[in-house]
Amino acid sequence: MTTTLAPAPLADDRPIWDIWLSSLWLPAVLAADALGVFAALDAEPADAAGLADRLALDGEALVSLLALLSGLGLARVRHGRFELTAPGRLYLRRGEPLYWGEALGVMGHSPVVELLCQSLRGAAPKGHYQAARQWGEGQAAEEAAAAVARVMQSQSLPSALGLAALDAFEGVKRLLDVAGGSGCFAVALAQRHPDMRCTVLELPAMGPIVAGHVAQAGLGHRVEVVEADMFADAWPGGYEAVLFSNVFHDWDARANSLLAAKAFDALVPKGRVMLHEMLLADQRDGPLAAAAFSMMMLLAVGGRQYAARELAAMLAEAGFGDALVRPAFGHYSLVSAARP
Ligand SMILES: C[S@@+](CC[C@H](N)C(=O)[O-])C[C@H]1O[C@@H](n2cnc3c(N)ncnc32)[C@H](O)[C@@H]1O
Repeated sequence: MTTTLAPAPLADDRPIWDIWLSSLWLPAVLAADALGVFAALDAEPADAAGLADRLALDGEALVSLLALLSGLGLARVRHGRFELTAPGRLYLRRGEPLYWGEALGVMGHSPVVELLCQSLRGAAPKGHYQAARQWGEGQAAEEAAAAVARVMQSQSLPSALGLAALDAFEGVKRLLDVAGGSGCFAVALAQRHPDMRCTVLELPAMGPIVAGHVAQAGLGHRVEVVEADMFADAWPGGYEAVLFSNVFHDWDARANSLLAAKAFDALVPKGRVMLHEMLLADQRDGPLAAAAFSMMMLLAVGGRQYAARELAAMLAEAGFGDALVRPAFGHYSLVSAARP
């Protein structure tokens, strides 16, 4: 059977991402105001951990908030600590003559603000996205899986086509796509690389949906689906590449270390692990899109976006070397490292 080669989209989707992610800007600023973040940074610059101690908030959640406030031009990093910028100091300190909070608060009835406050207090450990509640136990209800697959197909297909067009996958004959969502990455990569065989590892409830997409693309002979809990179950092995797209941002460093170790075991020597993510800057002070996506992940699943150096450190801890970072489609990057 012949398959069509899907080209990369003619324009990237950054404007669409920015429209979607801007929905978090105002709720994040209002949550910061409600939790006293502007007053605390004004009193004394701090890093995320220091601010967490002072305000009894969650340090990991504050990484996302401080990155977003920086991306919005309200805070910045100096000597490793966040301080308010001039607009942050002038307009967001309560009690100041130029305080903007009353006007911003007109939109303060959004339930998102309260949900963000809960997440920042560490009171919503699994996040608020109902469909993802059972992921840690390796489960998803049928309806939840169908909803996740629809969202991921809609959001990830452009970047999957863009990623497949990169030369990063040249020569890869066997690829494992862990938590592959709708299957759009495996399908796009297999379409682009006629010699590649892919395995999509997904939750049992996602399996039939992925298989349906694969069959529709006429790729059943080269893309297989393995239904498994990526944490608790054994993975198939012998791969030249293991891809995680938008997966590490769902989990904390401990869970990601386990995933990195399992990827190491699934690869042949010289095989590469590939992390497809939107990256925070190494100082974790933006950029705006990745920072807003990080707040989205905090809200949805209790996760966050990482900086390249954080991801490289997780991979190094699992035994990987030769870390490389390269831009991918739109706001995305690809962080990869090799099994020696
Ligand atoms: C944010 S989506 C990413 C999907 C895809 N990689 C993409 O970029 O479009 C996270 C995926 O992880 C899968 N997942 C969550 N927990 C899992 C587990 N314990 N084992 C296997 N897959 C899991 C979900 O079903 C979901 O499809």
